[in-house]
Formats: sequence, structure tokens, C-alpha cells
Amino acid sequence: MFKTFLVVCVISADTILNTGNAVQDFYWRDYAHGIIPDDAFEGKPGIYIGQAYFKNGGLLPAAIYPYTNAAVAIYDTRREIKEHIKILCSRDRRKFYWEAINFTNNNEGDLANAVVGGFQHEQNLLIGVAKHDGKWKIGKVKPDGKTDAKGLFVWTEEGKHLRLVDCFLLKYNQTASVDYIFDVRSS
Ligand SMILES: *[C@@H]1O[C@H](CO)[C@@H](O)[C@H](O)[C@H]1NC(C)=O
Ligand SMILES: *[C@@H]1O[C@H](CO)[C@@H](O)[C@H](O)[C@H]1NC(C)=O
Repeated sequence: MFKTFLVVCVISADTILNTGNAVQDFYWRDYAHGIIPDDAFEGKPGIYIGQAYFKNGGLLPAAIYPYTNAAVAIYDTRREIKEHIKILCSRDRRKFYWEAINFTNNNEGDLANAVVGGFQHEQNLLIGVAKHDGKWKIGKVKPDGKTDAKGLFVWTEEGKHLRLVDCFLLKYNQTASVDYIFDVRSS
């Protein structure tokens, strides 16, 4: 009787620990007045990752530039959203990494570990980055649907949108140890 009880306890503890490890340990903090929280994740030098609601459009992954009070997102065109902005933060930012993806010929497995950054028309949106016009641009990724709709959305000089099929996806490695070296191959 006692033995059975002991075994049950061990299994429960193990299950709890595993469940804890499986969670992507990041969170979205309120962003206001241009203040970058200490635990915010800097996606590329000088660019943080935001999330903003666009009326009747969806909850959009966005770029936040320090000292500004807006998040830059794409919904058909380039949008500067000034209210109800969140900023991506984590206790261990070294667990984030960017991984190259090509949406012309990707498969389900390429999306493993991806960070969900919002949703639009009942579709989850992921977070991507690519160099465009000589600058890193962070924005929403549509991962599903027809091949001609998938990819990273960036803005052009004219404020229009452009869909890129070659980009880097933001991922989070739950199992990375604290001494995990941040992957700089895409920098
Ligand atoms: C992405 O895939 C397409 C189609 O296979 C290919 O033409 C293109 O060169 C690929 N891009 C990269 C960066 O490999
Ligand atoms: C996650 O981190 C662990 C520990 O550093 C490493 O062994 C593993 O390959 C990483 N996984 C991915 C998908 O990068």
C-alpha cells in the first residue's frame, strides 16, 4: 500500500516538472511612454517585438523602436498603432532564436518551436524578420494557407506591404540550458 502511494507521488512530480518545461516562458508586458522593460527581447539591434490590436483586423505582431510611442505593424498597409501595445519579454531571452525558413517549399515541421505573436481572421500569426531595403524589419508571418499567401509581411518606402517568402522565424527553445549561446548566424 505504502509502496503504491510512493510511486504515484514520484510520477506526479515528474509530470509536473515536464509540464513546466514544455511551456514557452515568455510574456507580453504593457508598453507605454517609450520605456523598454529590462526583460524585453531585442529582436535585432534597436528593434523590439510588439503586439498591437488593429481595429477589426486582428492582434498583430509589430516592431517597437525605442523612444517612440507606437508599434509598427502591417494590415494591408504600414500602420502605426499608438494604444494598447504590448512588448515581448522573457526571464531568459537567450532561449529565443531566429531560424531561416523558405515559405515556397516549407513543411509543418519547419514551424516547430515558433512563437505565436497574434492572430488575424482566426489564423495564428508568427513573428519574422528579414533584411529589406538595407534594414532589418520585424513583422507578422502568415504560416498557413495557400503558398501565394504565406510569408513575412514588411513595409516598403511608400508604406505599402510586401510579402517575403524567405525570412527568419522567431522560435523559443524551452529545453535550452542557461548557458545556451544565442544563435548569431542570422545577425
Ligand atoms: C526558396 O525556395 C524557392 C523554391 O524552391 C527557391 O527558388 C529559392 O531560391 C529559395 N530561397 C532560398 C534563399 O534558398
Ligand atoms: C535547444 O537547446 C538544447 C540545449 O542547448 C540543444 O541541445 C538543442 O539542440 C536546442 N534545440 C534547438 C531546436 O535548437
